[in-house]
Amino acid sequence: ADPDPLQDFCVADLKSSTSANGFPCKLSSEVTSDDFFFDGLVKEGNTSNAFGGSVTPGNVLAFPGVNTLGISMNRVDLVPGGLNPPHLHPRSTESGIVIEGKVLVGFVSTANVFYSRVLRRGEMFVVPKGLVHFQMNVGEGKALIFTAFNSELPGAVVLPLTLFGSKPSVPNDVLT
Ligand code: GLV
Ligand code: MN
Repeated sequence: ADPDPLQDFCVADLKSSTSANGFPCKLSSEVTSDDFFFDGLVKEGNTSNAFGGSVTPGNVLAFPGVNTLGISMNRVDLVPGGLNPPHLHPRSTESGIVIEGKVLVGFVSTANVFYSRVLRRGEMFVVPKGLVHFQMNVGEGKALIFTAFNSELPGAVVLPLTLFGSKPSVPNDVLT
């Protein structure tokens, strides 16, 4: 969970050169209704990639109005067979709801126990903070999921990218 706010709101000034744990606030005199509404999760993401999936973020970087509020959401689109690959959020617990499709959702505990279920429309899941999890479309049609976080910037460690896509790359001997 993120720290509690010290004022009603603090719309992020993403362009500020001031550094802080989070983002400084834009001037209240410049805050408008537009700062508290976001249509960035309306459209399906681009699923033309190796995973057949896309995660569209509604975090503070995309939606500056959530700054200091300690919450955010994502949109996840998956083609049939598509995967949101194993990843974890270092700063947040996750919950989610399937809006469309049939989705295998799972996470692995620190004791290496795998918990999973196939979910359909309207069904929810939770992922404890920091645990590795994934979603896979196991239905015939598209799947749509909305996820919610108790952090405005949950962060994502995507295991395949972390291990095999880092720059510079992790030495082969280590990966072997
Ligand atoms: C799904 O796991 C997400 O992080 O949005
Ligand atoms: Mn996640």
